[in-house]
Amino acid sequence: MVGAGITGMLAIRSAAGSNKAESTQAIRQGQQTFARYCASCHSIHSAASLTGPGFKGYFSNHQPKPSDIIVRAVIAKGKGKMPAFGNLNKTQTDEVIAYLKTL
Ligand code: HEC
Repeated sequence: MVGAGITGMLAIRSAAGSNKAESTQAIRQGQQTFARYCASCHSIHSAASLTGPGFKGYFSNHQPKPSDIIVRAVIAKGKGKMPAFGNLNKTQTDEVIAYLKTL
């Protein structure tokens, strides 16, 4: 019984570890997608606008927090002068959002 408990705990630990690795990987992918498609119009170094608003602190400083759903819709459909990025699939969009949350 004791042995089973320890094995169970190790299983939980390693599952948590791999989720973290997965999310680090997702953020890295998101960073690449952002650099490719978004960085020409959106700064990551400040909140000041280039063509579009800067994303430094976009998720962390805003109250209320921007919602993932709205950000997803802006990416998919565009907004004002921002073109739609319908070419990004759900995974790529999730990755970009995960990356924006780290800024
Ligand atoms: C050609 C320039 C351009 C590119 C490229 C671009 N954007 Fe934008 N983006 C804008 C502009 C301009 C706005 C402001 C639109 C408005 O409010 O009228 C905007 C707004 C946004 C907003 C809403 C900000 C807010 O709070 O109102 C998000 C989120 C966003 N862009 C994400 C992205 C992402 C992610 C990408 C890459 C997939 C991207 N943008 C690529 C120009 C661009």
